[in-house]
Amino acid sequence: MQLLPDQLPVMVLDNIVIFPLLAVTIRTGNPRDIDLLLERREEAELLAVTSRQEGCERRPLDYDSIHPVGTACRVTRIKEIGSDQIEVILEGVCRISFLRLLSRNGQTWALIAGYQETGQASDSITQMLMESSLNLLKTCCAAGQPLPENAVGLLDRITSPGHLADLITLYLEPDLALQRRILAQVSIRDRLKLVHQLLYNRLRALENGSSAAPGGPQLQFPEHKQVSDQNEIDELRERIERLEFGASNSRIVLKELDRLERMNPASPDYHSLLHYVEYVADLPWNEETGENLDLEAAEKILDEDHYGLEKIKERILEHLAVRQLNRELKSPIICLVGPPGVGKTSLGKSVARAMGRKFIRLSLGGVHDEAEIRGHRRTYLGAMPGKIIQEIKRAQSRNPVFMLDEIDKLGRDFRGDPASALLEVMDPEQNHTFVDHYLNLPFDLSRVLFIATANQADPIPAPLLDRMEVIQLPGYTEEEKKNIACRYLLDRQRENHGLEQERIVITDEALDGIIDNYTREAGVRNLEKMIGKIMRKCAREKVAGRPVMKTVTRRALNDLLGPELHHKELAAARSRVGIVTGLAWTPTGGDILFIEAALMKSEKGEHLTLTGSLGEVMKESAQTALSYLRSVADDYNIEPGFFDRHRIHIHIPSGAIPKDGPSAGLAIFLTLLSLAGAVNADHLVAVTGEISLSGRVLAVGGIKEKVLAARRAGIRRIVLPRENLKNLEDLPREIRREIDFHGLETIAEAVPLVIPGLGNTSPTARQQYPGGRRKTARPSSPPAG
Ligand SMILES: Nc1ncnc2c1ncn2[C@@H]1O[C@H](COP(=O)(O)OP(=O)(O)O)[C@@H](O)[C@H]1O
Ligand SMILES: [Mg+2]
Repeated sequence: MQLLPDQLPVMVLDNIVIFPLLAVTIRTGNPRDIDLLLERREEAELLAVTSRQEGCERRPLDYDSIHPVGTACRVTRIKEIGSDQIEVILEGVCRISFLRLLSRNGQTWALIAGYQETGQASDSITQMLMESSLNLLKTCCAAGQPLPENAVGLLDRITSPGHLADLITLYLEPDLALQRRILAQVSIRDRLKLVHQLLYNRLRALENGSSAAPGGPQLQFPEHKQVSDQNEIDELRERIERLEFGASNSRIVLKELDRLERMNPASPDYHSLLHYVEYVADLPWNEETGENLDLEAAEKILDEDHYGLEKIKERILEHLAVRQLNRELKSPIICLVGPPGVGKTSLGKSVARAMGRKFIRLSLGGVHDEAEIRGHRRTYLGAMPGKIIQEIKRAQSRNPVFMLDEIDKLGRDFRGDPASALLEVMDPEQNHTFVDHYLNLPFDLSRVLFIATANQADPIPAPLLDRMEVIQLPGYTEEEKKNIACRYLLDRQRENHGLEQERIVITDEALDGIIDNYTREAGVRNLEKMIGKIMRKCAREKVAGRPVMKTVTRRALNDLLGPELHHKELAAARSRVGIVTGLAWTPTGGDILFIEAALMKSEKGEHLTLTGSLGEVMKESAQTALSYLRSVADDYNIEPGFFDRHRIHIHIPSGAIPKDGPSAGLAIFLTLLSLAGAVNADHLVAVTGEISLSGRVLAVGGIKEKVLAARRAGIRRIVLPRENLKNLEDLPREIRREIDFHGLETIAEAVPLVIPGLGNTSPTARQQYPGGRRKTARPSSPPAG
């Protein structure tokens, strides 16, 4: 029932225990705590509060020194006291147990789990304990126990036994050790028993004349009164009245404010309602930035930040121009699709800069829960707005460029379908009245410029994809990478490392070396990292007062970057029987892969063995290839019965990396044909395409990435489905000049292109596959066909 992250930053409070649903005021002058509190308040996020074990107060923070049960708290209000102290109200949300401490960005975080309370209110012993505790409390009060004015009335109305026990503890202020025991008690009945005993002891003490609470340091009574400070409510009312967000919204929120005013500040709902009204008051209902767009200036900025990508920049500018000319026009959202590091996210940032708008990036990877997008209703314990509204509030602008990053990684599970929530966010027909469950008021998202990104378009839920215009960024050629490195990355990294004054150049050869041997990617992310690494070394020299290297040569790479990490995946050194070069799409770009087949005598049993971690679809396409080959064996002079007397083993290295997809079908067929015909397949030809049993070649995905990989590997000819020829249009011209492309409709057309010798040798010769294995570099992610 609790929306709890599994990690939270830790705050240690040794002299107070915070119970769930209760708010306390604390003061602190500790700069670390102040930073943490300000940050958490800003993000409307939780904190994990606990205290140290007795005697460990001075020890450095580690798991053994803290109490393993604490409270997840929300920071609801911060007030500066003087210049170096702040006063905050912490509102307990729920009990948590600390599983482990972690260090994150200089802060201590904890791996936490929500506490499941055991026991329920309907249990008769619990009921009895509740009743008796209340009676005891009233007797205590009569005997002189100080209580806040309306405490008894409030307690009378509480139905949750666990909450009752917590609240009585707060009122009686026993010593901290007992408070911690009560906090740590998950069984509700046992917790009530502890509280009952506490009440009993307190009554005895009061009757014996000692009025003060026994033992323990005296706690300050939580200063709830200060929150209800009329001034602050009035101030909030003024702010709400000033917001121009529609009469009906205004009415609703002012009504909530009236309710707040009448509410008892000690009541559990008070702080959540206060948080809500403040949240509404803080939202940028009308704030906008960067209205008029100068397209020429925008183009300049896009060029300043990114090399090449002409078509994409043009498309973006068109999109902006259309939006500007006709605001009412519902233009589709741009979705940038391509492998990592090709500049999708940074293009989004650039668009924001060009338009003078704020930039927001929301990573959708691993978002499973609809509530993360659309928020939780306020009746929910620990409710919060969804990420969309949170980010808009943080940006303080209602027209930011909002990047929905990695939209293809959006999850879905029992907690609802985030894609449908996202649909409402993105849909221009609906998003001018987007209702977040927490806000429960329509917020106008129609001025937000959404840009989505994805590695692949296929996994994007269809209704979302329908509303987007996909722009492909296939990855860079080696020349493009070098240009990006010289003109952009080097300067950027020099600046990042305070080396603007140094004239450092990286030679052409050194760049080749970095690209070929230290990175293996379609984009330039690792290339940038490597350049950064070199600059870091230079910066260190400079700081040490030594002369900084002026020219980075290929020979220096080993010293600067360590041993080479990759070897360029090359086409096979020579043509062989039973090996065909295939092309794979991988999430990091394209790759070439070798399909190998070997032949064994076999009189009976299974005829096809497949290895190399192949997925179901790939296995099926191997079956299809074999069946089709058997059906046309005659055409290629394969002797009758050949396939009955042999077992065929197909292997696709690297064996441990999972591969799937239908696009290797044609390559597998050709491998089998080369094997059965004992004729070499040309090692400089790469093949991609799905096949059908009727002998047709069907279109496949990822063509551009595959072509770039083939070129990197030194392939001269690519055989692909005819339907895919159109995908080649956007490729750099030099590639189309260097590689010979053949678009096919039928499998038969592929044979002379890949196995030119077929028919010249004895078709029935049964040559054993030579069996040597080549070294192949491992792709960093699973390739798919
Ligand atoms: N065409 C380009 N020109 C200049 N820098 C680029 C280009 N493409 C990518 N980069 C740089 O490469 C890095 C990685 O890009 P990023 O936007 O994170 O990629 P993605 O979001 O596609 O994974 C960024 O620093 C980006 O500026
Ligand atoms: Mg990115």
